[in-house]
Amino acid sequence: MRLVYQYLTFSALVCLGTSSTVLPLVEDISSVNLESWKRATAQAPKGYAPGSVDCPSTRPSIRVANGLSDQEKSWLEKRRGNTIAPMRELLTRLNITGFDAGKYIDEHRDNMTTIPNIAIAFSGGGYRAMTNGGGGLAAFDSRTPNSTNTGQIGGLLQSATYIAGLSGGGWLVGSVYSNNFTSVQSIVNQNNHGDLWQLGNSILEGPATGGIQLLSTAEYYNNLYKTVISKQDAGFNFNVSLTDYWGRALSFQLVNVSEGGPGYTFSSIQDDNDFKNGNVPMPILVADERAPGEVIVSLNTTVFEFNPWEMGSFDPTLYGFAPLKYIGSNFTRGQLPNNQGCISGFDNVGFIMGTSSSLFNQAILQLDSFSGVPDLVKNALKGVLDGLGADSNDIADYTPNPFYHFHNSTNPSAQAERLTLVDGGEDLQNLPLNPLIQPVRNVDVIFAVDSSADTVPPTESAQNWPNGTALVATYERSTNASMQNGTAFPSIPDQNTFVNLGLNNRPTFFGCNASNLTGPAPLIVYLPNSPYVYNSNTSTLQMDYNNTERNAMIQNGYNVVTQGNGTRDAQWPTCVGCAILSRSFNRTGATVPDVCQQCFKKYCWDGTVNSTKPAPYFPQMILKEIKVKSGVDRFAPSFLGIALAIAASGFLMI
Ligand SMILES: *[C@@H]1O[C@H](CO)[C@@H](O)[C@H](O)[C@H]1NC(C)=O
Ligand SMILES: *[C@@H]1O[C@H](CO)[C@@H](O)[C@H](O)[C@H]1NC(C)=O
Ligand SMILES: *[C@@H]1O[C@H](CO)[C@@H](O)[C@H](O)[C@H]1NC(C)=O
Ligand SMILES: *[C@@H]1O[C@H](CO)[C@@H](O)[C@H](O)[C@H]1NC(C)=O
Ligand SMILES: *[C@@H]1O[C@H](CO)[C@@H](O)[C@H](O)[C@H]1NC(C)=O
Ligand SMILES: *[C@@H]1O[C@H](CO)[C@@H](O)[C@H](O)[C@H]1NC(C)=O
Ligand SMILES: *[C@@H]1O[C@H](CO)[C@@H](O)[C@H](O)[C@H]1NC(C)=O
Ligand SMILES: *[C@@H]1O[C@H](CO)[C@@H](O)[C@H](O)[C@H]1NC(C)=O
Ligand SMILES: *[C@@H]1O[C@H](CO)[C@@H](O)[C@H](O)[C@H]1NC(C)=O
Ligand SMILES: *[C@@H]1O[C@H](CO)[C@@H](O)[C@H](O)[C@H]1NC(C)=O
Ligand SMILES: *[C@@H]1O[C@H](CO)[C@@H](O)[C@H](O)[C@H]1NC(C)=O
Ligand SMILES: *[C@@H]1O[C@H](CO)[C@@H](O)[C@H](O)[C@H]1NC(C)=O
Repeated sequence: MRLVYQYLTFSALVCLGTSSTVLPLVEDISSVNLESWKRATAQAPKGYAPGSVDCPSTRPSIRVANGLSDQEKSWLEKRRGNTIAPMRELLTRLNITGFDAGKYIDEHRDNMTTIPNIAIAFSGGGYRAMTNGGGGLAAFDSRTPNSTNTGQIGGLLQSATYIAGLSGGGWLVGSVYSNNFTSVQSIVNQNNHGDLWQLGNSILEGPATGGIQLLSTAEYYNNLYKTVISKQDAGFNFNVSLTDYWGRALSFQLVNVSEGGPGYTFSSIQDDNDFKNGNVPMPILVADERAPGEVIVSLNTTVFEFNPWEMGSFDPTLYGFAPLKYIGSNFTRGQLPNNQGCISGFDNVGFIMGTSSSLFNQAILQLDSFSGVPDLVKNALKGVLDGLGADSNDIADYTPNPFYHFHNSTNPSAQAERLTLVDGGEDLQNLPLNPLIQPVRNVDVIFAVDSSADTVPPTESAQNWPNGTALVATYERSTNASMQNGTAFPSIPDQNTFVNLGLNNRPTFFGCNASNLTGPAPLIVYLPNSPYVYNSNTSTLQMDYNNTERNAMIQNGYNVVTQGNGTRDAQWPTCVGCAILSRSFNRTGATVPDVCQQCFKKYCWDGTVNSTKPAPYFPQMILKEIKVKSGVDRFAPSFLGIALAIAASGFLMI
């Protein structure tokens, strides 16, 4: 069945490749040499199983979160400097009439604190978020052909300091960084000849046979089982959770190396040459802390971040960071006692991506209905479930807890040997903004691509479009004196206002007036998923996409962030430039150019609220719709079961 399916997908691509409506494909597929994609991340000592390593000369320890890590500080010196040239080039290109962007940058480049500091954020939302967000990433990326033409905004990625992802957005960011900062364009260019993002191969069935990965479904599951059990049997008391299985399965889609790279770690990104030299932004993934059986809400969750050096939280509860490379070691009271050895390899890149998206652990439970899944595997999953209880099947188990006996009086897990983390969207903050609004990071502007599925029945609206819920959650948290811990966030109106004013249908800036904030906070450029060329409101739980549909989603995301390359508003690229410069203008006291005043008038939310119940939301296609060939039986076995399971857990919007 899968072979037939592959064939059909390929013919659809061939026919679409000649139209102008997909992200351009290279003509000659054979010119894409996937074998040359080397990745520098296989650092775990024993494959998936964490293992003993020599401790570094300075013993690893937990630090208090009262600033940035030394590594991030010295990396920033390189990265900030390296953003100047691409930013100068970008701002010069964006047609800010009456403003000499080149001269402005040249005059201020000696004082880095005046130069704009840009971040990008991708929301959760399964493959919908990964692909719609992926289109946004392609549009920001100057490596995408034509992305630096008039009307476009390529180069924003090259100008950014931080790039954060959560759940499905974390798959996007994690996948790009575990594949040597490949571009979305290169992934699309593989056509059917690669293993990355082949979302037509259901994650429940494993990769297609015949490519690099020669595994049948049974072999695939045996492989997942074998690697996960090797962690359990490693001899250091590690617990495994469904997230281990889910993360391994995800890796087959997202990490382009044999068997999804069981030895590839997130911390190894710190040694990647391009990252180390500050040539690419710093990737951050987000998850939430949740004890088994506990309910979390945005107002009181501890939000965790994973970056190439550390995992931990700036929140006042935990307020600490662990060296990511050495988690799995037995830290106590923030130290690694002298009689304890060092462990590494715990931070498998799939496990970290799986943690951020642990709601999808449910998918793994669908296996029971599959033929060809070995009993051994089914029994192992049952064993994991019996251990935790069914209502905790979305938990990622970090035993030993790196923060054991650390910050006893405020850390909710201080007395627990097990730290349990869940999907970063479970507290409704479905955009990974928490790390980016920390005052120590001095971010000026966040381009936030929101692919959340907020609109739901019984509002009789079209489903799975965003309505501002993620921003509302982060805003509400910022007003909670006991959790905000020095962070500030622009005022955000309620969701009814979002729908009534169309703020969920076109880009909007929040927090334009820096003097109307409770503290230093970035300007938010909100980029909500809306139908430009495709109805990209697919279900979060759709676990397989053929390449035609995948490319249509990517294409839509491209148009979301460029407003159809300026088709919807020719001034949009200029306004992107003004958003980048806004906080910098405040610092340097520069006169704000007239075109920027126009942009702010057009795009800044001005405080208007209309909280009446909105009419049902049925967005119209903004440009000409891409026709994906239809009428072919789709193979989507996982869909219903997962839908029911996740609906029961109450987190459909992620
Ligand atoms: C790039 O744009 C030019 C015209 O602006 C167009 O002819 C060409 O097809 C585009 N290339 C791709 C790969 O989209
Ligand atoms: C990673 O990508 C960079 C830039 O494209 C390239 O120069 C480098 O050779 C690649 N590294 C590996 C290990 O393939
Ligand atoms: C640049 O912006 C001005 C308005 O400020 C507009 O008249 C002009 O057409 C724009 N140029 C391009 C190439 O878009
Ligand atoms: C750099 O610019 C900031 C304003 O952003 C100013 O406060 C500071 O004094 C400047 N530093 C130097 C060395 O000029
Ligand atoms: C950490 O402590 C556990 C017992 O709590 C032990 O089983 C494990 O081997 C220890 N890890 C190391 C690296 O010594
Ligand atoms: C967070 O708030 C919810 C709802 O009020 C409550 O059930 C939960 O126990 C709280 N969690 C923490 C960690 O305080
Ligand atoms: C943040 O929380 C920590 C730990 O609870 C506290 O020591 C610190 O003073 C707080 N910072 C701010 C700015 O409130
Ligand atoms: C935290 O609590 C534990 C258990 O009560 C205690 O042994 C430990 O010394 C405390 N840690 C600190 C830093 O006080
Ligand atoms: C917005 O989304 C939330 C979360 O799904 C939902 O509860 C609410 O009804 C939605 N409101 C509107 C106006 O769409
Ligand atoms: C915008 O430009 C990209 C890259 O050239 C292209 O793929 C896309 O189709 C364009 N969108 C529109 C609406 O022309
Ligand atoms: C300005 O601040 C007030 C008070 O926080 C808030 O109600 C209002 O919405 C803010 N205006 C804008 C445009 O953000
Ligand atoms: C790809 O998926 C779309 C959307 O479900 C469907 O309409 C189309 O027929 C599929 N194409 C192929 C070749 O299977």
